[in-house]
Amino acid sequence: MAPTVTSVHESEPKVASIKTLAGSDALTSVPSEYAYIMDPNDKGDANDPEHSIPIIDFALLTSASPDERAQMIQKLGKACQEWGFFQVINHGVPESLMKQMIDACQRFFELPEVEKKEFHTKNLLDPIKCGTSFNVAIDKVRLWRDYLKVIAHPKFNSLYKPAGYSEVSLEFSKRTRAVATEILNGISESLGLEADYITKAMNWDRGCQILAANYYPACPQPDLAIGIPPHTDHGLVTLLIQNDMCGLEVKHNDQWVLVNAAPGSFIVNYKSIWHRATVNNTSTRISIAVPHGPALDTPAVPIPDLLEKEGEKAKYIGMTYEKFMELQASPAAYMMPCLDHLRVKDN
Ligand code: OGA
Ligand code: NI
Repeated sequence: MAPTVTSVHESEPKVASIKTLAGSDALTSVPSEYAYIMDPNDKGDANDPEHSIPIIDFALLTSASPDERAQMIQKLGKACQEWGFFQVINHGVPESLMKQMIDACQRFFELPEVEKKEFHTKNLLDPIKCGTSFNVAIDKVRLWRDYLKVIAHPKFNSLYKPAGYSEVSLEFSKRTRAVATEILNGISESLGLEADYITKAMNWDRGCQILAANYYPACPQPDLAIGIPPHTDHGLVTLLIQNDMCGLEVKHNDQWVLVNAAPGSFIVNYKSIWHRATVNNTSTRISIAVPHGPALDTPAVPIPDLLEKEGEKAKYIGMTYEKFMELQASPAAYMMPCLDHLRVKDN
């Protein structure tokens, strides 16, 4: 199908991709629009091996042995409560498929700029869009990252280029969604609910799944730039994979912890936890975050059964997932933990 070019594109600020900028031989320092000065107190506490996100063994979580399953569900519940981030191993999604997916995204980012232009659209829920930074119209500091976002569920969308993207992304999105489903089942059970409680309440069969790839080229002064500043995600459960470069840091007990995930594992974010993506001066880092959310028209609310059981009042108001995503992307909530906007005031 011929790409449609609308007038919307003309009015977009013209900002070169970070790939183009970073690829220029002349670049030896971070241009001022990208200068991100981090408070020294806010630096990551990089490589403390004692301090790393919990590991969930998917094979045990889905084990036929009730004992094994119960133990892993308990561990999962604890990981969600204490960290909100964990890594999932033994999930059965072939590492080769993950690599192919990263490779397909890399080939997309490496397309000539003019070939990516047709996807430079503006609307939050456009099925396919790519760009640089976060939102160049509102960014105060530009981010050292390009992105590609493709909605893969409830309707599967795909790119006709680069060759192979479509097939690989279809398989990857299905397999990843199946893992996400089991994780949510486990989380439901860890809360003392039926396994399918969350998926039913969130209309999971029409749930939103986005393949959100990030491209962070090597940066000449990594301490003076940021891939994505501290933020929280909008999804119900986000699964993330990366090439062989680390860079994701999560906030835990007031400290930034570098996520050092096992090759082939999924990094999973369940709670609305601060995290950020740092950059490096060695080589390009690619990550693919796959947020899975409720159906767009479904209000996410505190679970009534749990409130009743605990004798508590709701601490958050409900909101449809679509409205929540709009809120997260709005200038008012720029890189803020958007869940704060939903907190009930007198509670
Ligand atoms: C994101 C995100 C982190 C990473 O895309 O929301 O937090 O490591 N990415 O790329
Ligand atoms: Ni994120």
